[in-house]
Amino acid sequence: MNFAVLVSGNGSNLQAIIEAAKKGKIKGDLKLVLSDRADAFALTRAEKAGVRSVVVDLKDHASREAFDEAVVKVLKKENIQLVVLAGFMRILSPAFIKAFKNSIINIHPSLLPAFKGGHAIKDALEYGALITGVTVHFVDEEIDHGAIIAQAPIEIDPRDTMDSLSKRIHEAEHALYPKVIDLFLKGRLKISGRKVRIS
Ligand code: GRF
Repeated sequence: MNFAVLVSGNGSNLQAIIEAAKKGKIKGDLKLVLSDRADAFALTRAEKAGVRSVVVDLKDHASREAFDEAVVKVLKKENIQLVVLAGFMRILSPAFIKAFKNSIINIHPSLLPAFKGGHAIKDALEYGALITGVTVHFVDEEIDHGAIIAQAPIEIDPRDTMDSLSKRIHEAEHALYPKVIDLFLKGRLKISGRKVRIS
């Protein structure tokens, strides 16, 4: 099975995925890294690891739809069976989601449905939550909403800062995401409505 990782920024999850794949912990081929930003550090990580990458920039397309179509075209051409979002900062159009039905996954830095959106770590900290965590979920038309595949809880200490909490969240992400990718590629995830069964 072929998979692609979509990124916009630092790419620490991409790095964890690359390393797990190198160790044989992911049964599948990371064919492509796709970024919507030419300056994403994730592209440097891909290059260092010898993984092919491509930039599809919104600015080069007439509309959001045209941008999404271009991304889908690249992924289909590469015969991608799993689309892994790892810090990809674009909301996918319904057409994109339909083109890869039940084959797009995302990682989010909270225990969904708590703290949806782009500032989940900060929001959990400011809210005074005592437990947060990470969630890997299928992507559907609603933001941070699709069926949950795996979660890992993380306790928040009253002395936690953005830095200290972010560090633990990212460590948990780097441990969890490669495992879920491997399960998907082995055909072990069965989705039925909001329920995901691991066989
Ligand atoms: C991660 O915290 C992930 O949960 C969120 O975006 C961040 C990406 O980080 N969706 P990185 O680019 O993988 O370092």
